[in-house]
Amino acid sequence: MYSACVQGFTQWRDVARPLLSAGIAPEEMEWRLGQHFEPLAPSIAASAALRLSRQLMELLEALSCYRHDGRWDLMYRLAWRSLRQPRLLEDAADPDVHRAVQMESAVNREVHKMHAFVRFREMTDEHGETKYFAWFEPTHDILRRGVGFFCKRFPNMEWMIATPGGTALWQNGELQFVETPDKSTLPKADAHEGLWRTYYRNICNVSRINPPAMRREMPQRYWRNLPESVEIQTLLRDGQASFAQRQREAMDLELAKARAMQRALADLPDHSGGPSACRRCDIWRHATQAVLGEGSTSATIMLVGEQPGDEEDLRGRPFVGPAGRVLDSALKTAGLERSELYITNAVKHFKWQPRGKRRLHKRPDASEVAACNHWLDAEVSQVKPRIIVALGASALRALAGLTDSIESARQLQIPHASGAQIVCTYHPSAILRADPSNAGQLSSHLVDDLRRARELAA
Ligand code: URA
Repeated sequence: MYSACVQGFTQWRDVARPLLSAGIAPEEMEWRLGQHFEPLAPSIAASAALRLSRQLMELLEALSCYRHDGRWDLMYRLAWRSLRQPRLLEDAADPDVHRAVQMESAVNREVHKMHAFVRFREMTDEHGETKYFAWFEPTHDILRRGVGFFCKRFPNMEWMIATPGGTALWQNGELQFVETPDKSTLPKADAHEGLWRTYYRNICNVSRINPPAMRREMPQRYWRNLPESVEIQTLLRDGQASFAQRQREAMDLELAKARAMQRALADLPDHSGGPSACRRCDIWRHATQAVLGEGSTSATIMLVGEQPGDEEDLRGRPFVGPAGRVLDSALKTAGLERSELYITNAVKHFKWQPRGKRRLHKRPDASEVAACNHWLDAEVSQVKPRIIVALGASALRALAGLTDSIESARQLQIPHASGAQIVCTYHPSAILRADPSNAGQLSSHLVDDLRRARELAA
């Protein structure tokens, strides 16, 4: 068994190289973190030239910054295994590779935070020279990795970035790493701090603060070393109030849009009073209410289903029952926001037949679909979508008069009379009804088609 006590990447590399070339297995090695570097017994001498890829070395260097006792073992194991399995890093499912990739991302995120949240304070030394000082408390040992950014950014200033685990000093264009001085001797505030805060107050647009996003991007542990942090609480309080206000306004706008569509359909020149008063066919007799479309009336994508289901009929909204849940999940996977679409049905009333106490969906016939086209056309001319997604056969019939199977219609380029392009796909209920061996495939077709609609609309 061999053991080594190392503190940083260079030390680890100097110890690991001869061990690796001598073929010492990871199980024979014990790594510890320590102030006192213990070189290995001279009996371990390199016996073969080592070839470690640049990609691996870069990964190992990142891992050495991750504050965890197991980092040196993982680094050695990766190096040892890569020598025997040169394509190891390509295997993302390998537990060591997976862990290493996660650790590397955490380290890179911390470097990014360092660049964003280090704030220099101005000080004057005993010779009257101006210097800049920053205190930063990173979660990982990233000072060496992140400091290059400041050397390039402030090459002509003299500055120091102190962290609990070491300090970077930039003097006369040279970078040094030294031990961190006692914190009580470090400067706390400077004349410019007030200026900083005034500046922050002035550039910060309170109406655009999104408090959850702000907390995510700037974790609270960084706040205590930011001069502007005194302002953050106040700004956040104001921001929260205006965030809630903006959400209320957005909801009011949505409601106003829905009402605008209702009014637009009710005010059509046919004086029929809109879908709620429609008697063009008989379905209305058994339905609770007409279910109109909803969503953005300026959407570039319109989704058209068949007719409301049992739950939609009771709630007066399209796609809020089981089929709606399948649709919502497919929209999410396809990267579409429901609130940015306009969602409606070819037929506005629920057609059903009784089965015991249940109301079972009954497909509308061709004449009922044709009768309801009046309303669908009016919705299309209000919204003016670029893409219309036909969900299932009834929607395809209503929009294009086609009776093709969905399987073949998916392959076609179908124009709509309004100039929009129709994308045809499976109805979410078809996925609910499908044999389990086929449901997965239908569901991925639905997602693919929604994605295609998104790309076409873009
Ligand atoms: N099926 C539809 O076609 N539309 C709905 O709104 C619900 C289920």
